[in-house]
Amino acid sequence: MRSVTINASKTYDILIGDGLLSQAGEKIAAVCKGESALIVTDDAVNALYGSAVEQSLQKAGYKTDRFVFQNGEQSKNLETYTSILSALAKTNISRSDVLVALGGGVTGDMAGFAAATYLRGIRFVQIPTTLLAMVDSSVGGKTAVDLPSGKNQVGVFYQPDIVLCDYSTLKTLPEEFFTDGCAEVIKHGVILSAELFDLLKKPILPQMEDIIARNVTIKSDIVMQDERETGIRQILNFGHTIGHGIEKHSNYRISHGKAVAIGMVVASRGAWRMGLCSEDCHTEIVDMVKQYRLPDKTDITPEQLISAAFFDKKRSGKNISLIIPEKIGKCVIKSFSMDELAAFIKMGMSK
Ligand SMILES: NC(=O)c1ccc[n+]([C@@H]2O[C@H](COP(=O)([O-])OP(=O)(O)OC[C@H]3O[C@@H](n4cnc5c(N)ncnc54)[C@H](O)[C@@H]3O)[C@@H](O)[C@H]2O)c1
Ligand SMILES: [Zn+2]
Repeated sequence: MRSVTINASKTYDILIGDGLLSQAGEKIAAVCKGESALIVTDDAVNALYGSAVEQSLQKAGYKTDRFVFQNGEQSKNLETYTSILSALAKTNISRSDVLVALGGGVTGDMAGFAAATYLRGIRFVQIPTTLLAMVDSSVGGKTAVDLPSGKNQVGVFYQPDIVLCDYSTLKTLPEEFFTDGCAEVIKHGVILSAELFDLLKKPILPQMEDIIARNVTIKSDIVMQDERETGIRQILNFGHTIGHGIEKHSNYRISHGKAVAIGMVVASRGAWRMGLCSEDCHTEIVDMVKQYRLPDKTDITPEQLISAAFFDKKRSGKNISLIIPEKIGKCVIKSFSMDELAAFIKMGMSK
């Protein structure tokens, strides 16, 4: 088992191990002294892991209840959020009791928002069961739900009390979701760790504990420097401005991970063509994306992406910050005017 300590507005551990689910109760009891625990999970994850976690919590002395919602991004809305609040009230959860989010990023984001806002904040534990949730969404304290007008439009920063990554749960994760998580893993390598990037050239399943620990460390180092994303945390958005545009224009038929993969390819090609990185750096990114069976191109036009970028929430005033790779393992934040961005996207998408 590996452990990474986060020193953000709260200090807590992320534990990474095989079979941690069955120890969830004791690990949670060591940091949360409450009497009751509400497990929030989706129907697919509940069927696989709900009972194991509930039994472990009961063995550690918690009174338990479960709130189960239908799996998928379409559930990440105010209606489900309100139902979680009602379940917390029905279970008589007090401030010292705990909400346990068991599942992927949808569960963690939405349950985290409920934990942050119910009684102005209750104890909160994340048990991520997707690769994306283990390496990305459960690290950093961003919580949110979607509005009809856009993804993640309501939320707060709220750190958990402990995160338990049991990577044995990845054995049941459908391949498409595993692949989505790989895009964020590749991103972490490109922006901050040539060493991680090299490890990804070999099969990752046998190195899962190390890979997750490295990703968690990379993301948490950044979060500890800039918890509320006013500066350096923006580098985690490499591939995301273009990726978000692709997701939006495909009506979310292209998943986040696949869109980010294309975004990384376009951004690195744009950077190479503008003389900001070498051709090798771009080629390495393309090869890695293909190795993980992620797409490297889209039918969406540069003009469509340019207009989507204009509405990106990372835009400030007339300029937008883009993350540019200088070489594998090193990126910089560069401010672009909208005209420069248009030229960059056109260069990044031309053959
Ligand atoms: N908070 C953040 O910093 C942050 C960062 C990145 C993404 N996100 C959010 O994360 C969400 C996407 O997360 P996700 O890809 O984990 O989606 P998800 O939670 O919908 O999980 C994907 C699917 O996998 C199923 N599943 C989960 N674990 C499983 C397992 N072990 N075995 C079998 N099936 C399993 C789920 O039921 C679901 O159908 C988005 O809403 C995104 O906005 C948040
Ligand atoms: Zn992402």
